[in-house]
Formats: sequence, C-alpha cells, structure tokens
Amino acid sequence: MTDKGKVYLVGAGPGDPDLLSVKAMRLLQTATTVVYDRLVSPEIMQCVSPAATQVYVGKTTGHHTLKQDEINALLVRLGRSGQTVVRLKGGDPLVFGRGSEEALALAQARISFEIVPGISAAQACAAYAGIPLTHRGLARGVQFITGHPREGDEFHLDHAALSDPGQTLVVYMGLANVSRIANELISAGRRADTPAAIIERGTTTRQRTLLTSLEQLPNTVRIHAVESPALLVIGKVVELAEQLSWFTPAVEDGRRRYA
Ligand SMILES: C[S@@+](CC[C@H](N)C(=O)[O-])C[C@H]1O[C@@H](n2cnc3c(N)ncnc32)[C@H](O)[C@@H]1O
Repeated sequence: MTDKGKVYLVGAGPGDPDLLSVKAMRLLQTATTVVYDRLVSPEIMQCVSPAATQVYVGKTTGHHTLKQDEINALLVRLGRSGQTVVRLKGGDPLVFGRGSEEALALAQARISFEIVPGISAAQACAAYAGIPLTHRGLARGVQFITGHPREGDEFHLDHAALSDPGQTLVVYMGLANVSRIANELISAGRRADTPAAIIERGTTTRQRTLLTSLEQLPNTVRIHAVESPALLVIGKVVELAEQLSWFTPAVEDGRRRYA
C-alpha cells in the first residue's frame, strides 16, 4: 500500500445527522476532501469542516454526474495525492451502495483505505417507523433486496427465497417496479393482505410513513405520489407500527421536534 493519502469509505446513515457514528463525525471534521452522493443529507454536509474541499458526484435518475469508473478513478487520484479523503455515501457503503466496487479499485491501485459502516436505510427507516425487522412469533428473519436491476439485466425475483411468510422483506429502490414486485410476491405465495409499509425520506424532518397491504402497495404509492428515496417493508411485523410508532417529524424554529 502507498503510505501517502488514505481514503475512508464512510456511511452517512439515512439522513438524521444524529445517526452518524462518532468515527464518521471525526472524519468529516478532519478530511481534506469529501466526495459525496445525492443521498447524503444537507444537515450531514453541514458537519464537514469548512476547510475541506467538497466534490459532488451524485446521480439523479438517468443522469450521472460522474460514471462509476470515473468516481473510482477520482478516489484513486485523490488517494495518491496524499490527501485524507472521505468518500461519503448514504446509509451503509456496502449495502446497495457500490462501496465495494470503490474499495476494489482502491485495493487494486494499492491506495490504503478504511470502511466506516453507516446505519442502512432498512434498519433506520424501520426503527423510525416503529417496525421491528424481526419479532418473536412474527418474523424469524429479514431479507434486503433491490427492486432495481442492474442496467441491462432482466428484473427477476427469486420466488422460492421470497415467499416465506416468516421473513420480513425490505425492498430498496422499489418504487419504479412496485406493481411487479407486489404481483410477483403474491404469485409466489405471499398473502395479498400481508401488511406493508412505505417509508419516504426516513429519519428526516420530512419522513412520511404509509401503512398498507401487499396488494394495495402499488395503489398507495400512486395515490400518495411517493417519491424517492423510499423503502418498502413487507411482512407481519408491519402490524406493530401502529403501537410502536414514536417519531413525529416536525420542524419548529428550524429545530426538529420529537413527539
Ligand atoms: C442506492 S440505494 C443506497 C442504500 C444505502 N447504501 C443504505 O445502506 O441505505 C438507495 C435506496 O436506499 C433507500 N433509502 C436510502 N435512504 C433512505 C431514506 N432516508 N428513506 C427511505 N429510503 C431510503 C431507498 O430505497 C433508495 O432508493
């Protein structure tokens, strides 16, 4: 490894800055350059040292500011130049975040790096919506899946793996294919009345939680004009949200209030 710079692949969590790890916060305050994504909240960017250079490499639907290869090359270049670089990604860098592709590029270029985990949307959104991902008697396991196939790949759900009613399903990037996801899960044997939740902009002051059923999931998304980022949670554990809901996002005098 080069003894020059170092690149930290840091998870920023889902939005609420209070969910940053102590290590992530320390790195944001000491990095020389911060390379960040669209899903990193403005409140978290306020934690970055004013002396640091900020480089935005986010994507909007269908439009990449930089292609993944270019982001990898940028990180290698910055690492080689002797800087302390924070590559800040929403949630956890290794959960549907392409952090492992960036780590591989750094490893191949012999740039030293560390991976700082973040709280992934599944854990954070579920907790802020009052949904336990597992619960004795309701769910003995949880599966995280993406609802968005890789460019050029066919959309395909593994029916056998996803039909078990004892498993909670969490779907990242599921909005565009929500009808297909609901229909295929029902065809695979999941009950149409399985409880389901949509959590939009989880953990932020604009969080919205919609409780519905698997069958009604596509309609609920449409009627309420749900926008990205949103997470789908499907399974009996969603029933508990009515009793366990605790987070009422509201802003008073610019400060978040918990009710
Ligand atoms: C490219 S993936 C990145 C996931 C991220 N690495 C993580 O661990 O949470 C983006 C998807 O994560 C989910 N997501 C991320 N942040 C979210 C939030 N604050 N509220 C709801 N969903 C979120 C959405 O499904 C979004 O489309």
